Amino acid sequence: MSTVSSSSHVQLPTDQELVLKVIPMPGDCNANGDIFGGWVMAQVDLAGSVLPARYTQGRMATVAVNEFIFKQPVRVGDILSFFSKVSRIGRTSITVKVEVYAERYRSQGQYTKVTEASLTYVAIDDQGRPRPIPKTNE
Ligand SMILES: CC(C)(COP(=O)(O)OP(=O)(O)OC[C@H]1O[C@@H](n2cnc3c(N)ncnc32)[C@H](O)[C@@H]1OP(=O)(O)O)[C@@H](O)C(=O)NCCC(=O)NCCS
Repeated sequence: MSTVSSSSHVQLPTDQELVLKVIPMPGDCNANGDIFGGWVMAQVDLAGSVLPARYTQGRMATVAVNEFIFKQPVRVGDILSFFSKVSRIGRTSITVKVEVYAERYRSQGQYTKVTEASLTYVAIDDQGRPRPIPKTNE
């Protein structure tokens, strides 16, 4: 859980795992010059799959984006840190929370929460049908 330490700067979460770091480039921008939301969504989808992969041990697919909030714009040169935790394990699906924090260009060490999301992944078999999550990893 993050706490406000100054205007838009926050502490990094201590109850979530760092699953991805990436720096957006000029080719990822929209017409405003900020980073395209679809690019951020793709990174969140990748980051969100990291923890479910430990449980599914095989193929899986994103079945739902339950919530996706762009709290602050992402800019070229930001260092983005993606934190995640499992919020629900079902019979064939796993739901995770993902939070994205930006270290602005020339402001490393100060973190702004830019995005938060909830996504659900389903373990699938070779035919693309849902399969139970292996019990040994629950
Ligand atoms: C994922 C997929 C195999 C699920 O098939 P399905 O017939 O909907 O499966 P089910 O109805 O049995 O649901 C499977 C699990 O997904 C969950 N689920 C299904 N729809 C959901 C939704 N809208 N939101 C959250 N969870 C959902 C179910 O609750 C179930 O979880 P549980 O077993 O843990 O209770 C199928 O929907 C699919 O192939 N979707 C496309 C996936 C894809 O291509 N993703 C990339 C997007 S480009």
